Amino acid sequence: MNSPREHWGSKIGFILAAAGSAVGLGNIWRFPYLAGQNGGAAFIFVYILCVLAIGIPVLIAEILIGRTAQKNPVGSFKVLTTSKFYHGIGGMGVVAGFVILSFYSVVAGWTIGYLFEAINGSLLNYDVAEKASEHFFVLTHDPVWNVLLLVVFMILTMGIVYFGVQKGIELGSKIMMPLLFVLLLGLMIYGLTLDGSYKGLDYLFNPDWSKINSDVILAALGQAFFSMSLGMGAMLTYGSYLTKKDNIPVSSLWIAFLDTSVAIIAGICIFSVVFATGQNPDVGPSLIFRTLPVVFAKMPGGWYFAVFFFFALSLAALTSTVSLLEVVTAYFVDEKGWKRKNAVIVFGSLVTLLGIPSALSFNALADFKIIGKTFFDLTEFISSNLMLPIGGFFIAIFVGWLWGFDKVKLLVKEGSEKLFDKFPWLIIFWKIILRFIAPVLIIIVLLSSIGIL
Ligand code: PFF
Repeated sequence: MNSPREHWGSKIGFILAAAGSAVGLGNIWRFPYLAGQNGGAAFIFVYILCVLAIGIPVLIAEILIGRTAQKNPVGSFKVLTTSKFYHGIGGMGVVAGFVILSFYSVVAGWTIGYLFEAINGSLLNYDVAEKASEHFFVLTHDPVWNVLLLVVFMILTMGIVYFGVQKGIELGSKIMMPLLFVLLLGLMIYGLTLDGSYKGLDYLFNPDWSKINSDVILAALGQAFFSMSLGMGAMLTYGSYLTKKDNIPVSSLWIAFLDTSVAIIAGICIFSVVFATGQNPDVGPSLIFRTLPVVFAKMPGGWYFAVFFFFALSLAALTSTVSLLEVVTAYFVDEKGWKRKNAVIVFGSLVTLLGIPSALSFNALADFKIIGKTFFDLTEFISSNLMLPIGGFFIAIFVGWLWGFDKVKLLVKEGSEKLFDKFPWLIIFWKIILRFIAPVLIIIVLLSSIGIL
């Protein structure tokens, strides 16, 4: 006999756990560097539009599937439909989790590397932009160090998933998430006092519309999915631990709000420093690692800020990597009858192996390019910009068209009766988005990005 499925202890417990999956390197590392590569404010404008028009409706749909079926992504579609195609869409989510985890852990490894240096104080030596950039270059050009940090981070992730998520990670994120938020606010305020930081604000909030093209829109859409952990069943899996008493739409709004505010605050921190120190906004994945040390070196209490910041960032990354490995593990446990511990060891090790070429993309394999991209860039592109939006597309189609909307209407109202009594049009609005707006937008963006439109 299976033991009864566990459920979240409280409403806020679910919101924090889901926000823990959503808030991570995607907000603090990926969002600022993509904004920097894609024209700043124009990107942010399109990003927010993607969150509102596609992200939130798909988030509600994904959580609803999980809550209704009470299973992992593949298992959920097996409960809800006989379509083999949809079982495959659940499977694509598992693969996406595997691939994202492989490159994500490389960057998470860097945060651990920076944490060591923050603790021993050497990070505070990089007080000007050139020194900080050079240091990043040295760190990432050491293949052994990069692979070692990747392995360390994967061992931490596997350790937590192996021993169970609840106590450690939930308790940890309840303390570290607010701390990260406060530290970011502190950094933002300090950044804004720097001479020239207003240019950063201008860059972030004063759009140059001519910068918007299909690449910018694809990057923004991919980032909305990546940042909200959508399109691959992570939120679906977390939704499967909910009960009918929980209010899905309101929880989703909270998750989106927390996720987006952390990204915007991180953007303000980084770009106030980038412009105050005359750096280039479009350097790519190295952006935060080149800018933050300069701030820490200059600000009062910099050692404490640096240590707590990289500790909190590593933990935020860990709450996300755990949710990624959990999707892969849950699939093999539920659907294939594996023992949890074996699944963690086997698939955690395979992810680490796949991560090695990503870790080497900044050094030994820097010149090894497939369609003009390093292995790291390629895995990031395929999983985030293609697999997640495609997964989101089919989730929207499933809930909007295939599941039976009369049923869906009743299911989503459970736990949120008052909301829908007050604003009955919300459900029609959601239906139109799932049926038409989200799928059409996703298809247009995907086709134009591969040059078909
Ligand atoms: N949302 C996480 C971040 O922004 O860092 C990354 C992520 C976690 C993506 C879990 C997908 C996922 F399922």
